[in-house]
Amino acid sequence: MSEIIEIRGGRPLKGTIQASGAKNAALPMLMATLLTPEPCILRNVPNLLDTGLTLGLLEHFGANCSYSNSIAKICVPKLRATEASYSLVKALRASFWVLGPLLARGGAARVALPGGDAIGTRPVDIHLKALEKMGAEVKLKHGVVYATAPHGLHPAEIKFHFPSVGATHQLMMAAALTPGITTLSNVAREPEVSALADMLNQMGAKIEGAGTDRIVIEGCSELTGVDVTMIGDRIEAGTYLMAAIATAGEITITGINPEHLRAVLDLLVHMGVEVKTTTDSISVKTVSVPNAQKVTTQPFPGFPTDLQAPLMALLTIANGESKIEEKIFEGRYGHVPELNRMGAKITVNDREAIIEGVMKLSAAPVDGGDIRAAAALVVAGLAADGITQIHEIEHLRRGYENLEQKFRSLGAQIGCVPEEIEDAVATGC
Ligand code: UD1
Repeated sequence: MSEIIEIRGGRPLKGTIQASGAKNAALPMLMATLLTPEPCILRNVPNLLDTGLTLGLLEHFGANCSYSNSIAKICVPKLRATEASYSLVKALRASFWVLGPLLARGGAARVALPGGDAIGTRPVDIHLKALEKMGAEVKLKHGVVYATAPHGLHPAEIKFHFPSVGATHQLMMAAALTPGITTLSNVAREPEVSALADMLNQMGAKIEGAGTDRIVIEGCSELTGVDVTMIGDRIEAGTYLMAAIATAGEITITGINPEHLRAVLDLLVHMGVEVKTTTDSISVKTVSVPNAQKVTTQPFPGFPTDLQAPLMALLTIANGESKIEEKIFEGRYGHVPELNRMGAKITVNDREAIIEGVMKLSAAPVDGGDIRAAAALVVAGLAADGITQIHEIEHLRRGYENLEQKFRSLGAQIGCVPEEIEDAVATGC
């Protein structure tokens, strides 16, 4: 039976929570275990739909996996398969990133093309051109990528035409198991890229420059097992910060490196929010109605596209007119009609959204749409008058661990109920 999330809004969030391990670091790091026959231990792996799907994917390729208490133990003694079907890739777009590791270890891979989704067309040309530069023969047939490297991949100098996060992960993994020096330039600088590079280094590769726009990888013919811990999830943390401010609250998040959210924290300061940080925590206190802002999403270290929707929910009740330009994904405004149904005043023209601040949002039944759109509706629901019902909550399960429990520990009235009992008051699930 499907469930909905119900939120009785209007209570300021107060208290301290611990950030979960970063989903977007966990996915490539789980996939990197395909590169070695030795056992790998990954700690602080969040318990999410997407991490569960990734473990299932690894099992499909021959991995022995166990997962408990946020610790994943994975060993892939032999690759049992080298193909990922459309149903696998459709359920988890990032599963396309196994192409590089499978090619590097097994010499061949068949992976379905991900296709477009709710937030944009999402091509994979950067991944494929770069793998071709490393000697892969790539053919597209009936929506499936057939890639072979019968004599192994070879090192190359590769320049991306856009700093794609996924392509950076994919190529770093492939190059780590390719003897010789591969250079990647105009690459993504996201903290999750640095986290994957650290793991690959511990496995025996020599990677320098992760976190800058040029990464040099000295790969080897064999990689070893590893014991690594995930970094904190900056997008989850950013979502809770937006929610705290939208409810005029005061919260602390531990287990998060503030430098991973620098652009976000600078923006919050401009909004008039009091922000304090330590090396691994962030505290915010709302002292007045936030000021309107002009924001453009950018690759790291710019403002992250994954926090555009939660930020927009907050700006709907800011003082004045805000402007957001979405530069990363062309279709990432699915939350706008839902926020408008809650009383927001947002107009969209192509990639630009104008948000006229209103005094208060008002609760309404809304649909999740995609993972961060659904998170934006949680932020809006916590700030709104009345009971907001969020449908299609499977999107939230993809990226937010223990969402209701964490918000309840901050004083929110939030719970999940079976879809039929729509007028039940939120209590818990
Ligand atoms: C990752 C994140 C996602 C985040 C995004 C941008 C994970 C699991 N997902 O997605 O949460 O929103 O980074 O920070 O970590 N592009 C091309 N050709 C390619 C690849 C990408 O044109 O071959 C374009 C995309 O269409 C998009 C832009 O580049 O417009 C960014 O995509 P990319 O950085 O690759 O995002 P993902 O890795 O899919």
